[in-house]
Amino acid sequence: MSGTDPLLRCEGLVAGYGGPPIVRKVYLDIPQNEMMTLVGPNGAGKSTLLRACYGLTKTYAGHIVFAGKSIEKTTPLERYAAGIALVPQGRCNFDRMSVAENLAVAAHSVPVARRPEALDYVLGLFPTLKPLMPSMAGNLSGGEQQLLEMAMVLQTRPKCLLVDEPSLGLSPRMQAAVFEKLAELRDAGMTIIAVEQNVRVALAVSNRAAVLVQGEIAFEGPADQILADDRIRSAYLGAEPLSQPTN
Ligand SMILES: Nc1ncnc2c1ncn2[C@@H]1O[C@H](COP(=O)(O)OP(=O)(O)O)[C@@H](O)[C@H]1O
Ligand SMILES: [Mg+2]
Repeated sequence: MSGTDPLLRCEGLVAGYGGPPIVRKVYLDIPQNEMMTLVGPNGAGKSTLLRACYGLTKTYAGHIVFAGKSIEKTTPLERYAAGIALVPQGRCNFDRMSVAENLAVAAHSVPVARRPEALDYVLGLFPTLKPLMPSMAGNLSGGEQQLLEMAMVLQTRPKCLLVDEPSLGLSPRMQAAVFEKLAELRDAGMTIIAVEQNVRVALAVSNRAAVLVQGEIAFEGPADQILADDRIRSAYLGAEPLSQPTN
């Protein structure tokens, strides 16, 4: 793999859940060390595309190439071990366990000797979680839980992070904080695909953007190009006002 090769590539990917294809012939390159935001209408197949990259759906045709190797026949655990991590949509911690216990459970695939270091690493990334370690995860705010979800998978120090609607249900301040944190991880060398409805917040810190419509990529390009293009916004992104408020 050369420095310019994408870290993750979908090559004519067709995927679904056993019935008709949901992801239909997707070609997508995610360059190493960049953040791509994946947007598109509800039901377009964004979550399915992330799950397909992680091995949680059936691949009907095409290839998923990670670090130069086809991985579409490998299991999610094998992909996790290879350096891909998925933070699924919705709250998915163990709500009746403490933050510390959640982090300990998620560290199961980290070699025992490296677990203290992995914990230090994520608590350094998310210092807000430190005083919450004894708290029940279910008692955390939505924003704190989202940080916990990310901290849980980041203990393995993935090369590529797939994150599905991380700002869902969060206050505008927390949404910005989550994306600033993702940008920080990208700046530290991680490759990120974020599915996001809040286009403005996500694109502000992304390098690239792709628009998925009915399982196909309708547009892919630099994030600032999407932000600047009224036609793309009105055609694919609904009525969300992206221009700066005038008040
Ligand atoms: N587990 C599943 N089994 C069967 N169909 C599913 C499943 N999850 C999602 N789908 C279908 O896949 C399509 C795309 O869903 P999804 O990938 O969740 O879209 P998005 O994330 O863009 O809103 C929808 O028609 C949905 O009904
Ligand atoms: Mg979704």
